[in-house]
Amino acid sequence: MELVQRPRRLRTTPVLRKMVRETRMDPSSLIYPMFVKEGITGKNEIPSMPGQYHYGLDMLPKALEEVRDAGVSSVMLFGIPKTKDDWGSGAWAADGIIQQALELAKKEMPSLFYISDTCMCEYTSHGHCGIIENNQVDNDKTLDSLARIAVSQAQAGADMVAPSDMMDGRILAVRSKLDKKGFTTTPILAYSAKYASSFYEPFREAAQSAPQFGDRKNYQMDYHNKREALRELELDEEEGADILMIKPALSYLDVISEARKNTNHLLAAYSVSGEYAMIKAAAKAGFIKEDHLICETAVSIYRAGADLVVSYYAKEIAKFMKEGRIG
Ligand code: PBG
Repeated sequence: MELVQRPRRLRTTPVLRKMVRETRMDPSSLIYPMFVKEGITGKNEIPSMPGQYHYGLDMLPKALEEVRDAGVSSVMLFGIPKTKDDWGSGAWAADGIIQQALELAKKEMPSLFYISDTCMCEYTSHGHCGIIENNQVDNDKTLDSLARIAVSQAQAGADMVAPSDMMDGRILAVRSKLDKKGFTTTPILAYSAKYASSFYEPFREAAQSAPQFGDRKNYQMDYHNKREALRELELDEEEGADILMIKPALSYLDVISEARKNTNHLLAAYSVSGEYAMIKAAAKAGFIKEDHLICETAVSIYRAGADLVVSYYAKEIAKFMKEGRIG
C-alpha cells in the first residue's frame, strides 16, 4: 500500500514518543494551595478533599518542607479565621491568620514563593466576597477593603497577591494601594476569568466560606460566556495585573486556549477543589487510576495554553514530571 503519511512512525518507542512531545512543562510552573486554620494544632484532613488538610500554625513549617521536598516551589495560602464579621476585618488584621502564616512561612521556609489569596469570603459572616449593601455585594465599597487586605498581606511577607473576588476595578485598586505603600515590586496574580462554578463546592467546605444567602452569580462569571472572559482578561491587563488566571480549569480548557491566542500576558489556570474531589472519589471507587488521571488532566491544562497551574495535586504532578512520565 502506498501510504506516505504515517503519523504512527513517531509513536513507535517510548524514547521517540517522549522526544516528540509538543507540551513541555516543569515543576517550577506549579502552585500548591494550602489552608491554614486559626486556633488548631496539628492538621485535620478536609473531608471533601481527602489528602488535603487544614494546617495549624504549628504544623505549617513541616507541611512546607513536604512541599519543597516534592519539588514544588510555590504555594498559595488561604486563611481560615476563628471569628468572622460582616466586614471581613480578620482578612486585613495585622495578626490575622493569613498574616501570621505568611510571617511564619517566610521565616521558616524562605526558599518557597508565597502567594496569598486576596478575598473576604473566608472572613465574612455572610460568606460573600465583599461588603454587603441592600442584600448585594457592593462593588465600590469592597475595593477599599481588598486593597487593604493586599497591603496587609504584602506587609506580612506575601511575594505575590491574588485577588479572587471578581469585583470590577479591583486590580487597579490593589495596584494603586500597593504602590502607594511602597510595594511597587509585588506582582498581582489576578483571578481574571473566574466562573460561578459548582466545582468550588469542596473548597467552600474546606474554607468555611459558603455564602449564607444567595450565590456568587452577580460577581463571578456565567459559564455560558467565553468572549466575556477575554474582556475580563483585557481589563485586568489594563489595570496592571502581572499574571492572568482562569478558573476552574478542566471545564474551561476552551477559555484557556482562546485566552492564549489573545494575550501576551502569562496565563495561569486553577484546577479547583471539585476537579480534585472528582478524581479522588472515582479513584476510591475503583473506577479510574488516580495517577493516570492526574497526568492526563494536568497535561491537558498546559496543552490548552496555561503557563502556570494551581493544583491540589501539585506535589504528585511534580513527581510525575521529575520521573519524565509527563513534561
Ligand atoms: C475565594 C476563593 C474560592 C476559591 C478560591 N478562592 C471560592 C469561591 O469563589 O467560592 C475556589 C478554589 C477551589 O475550589 O479550589 N473567593
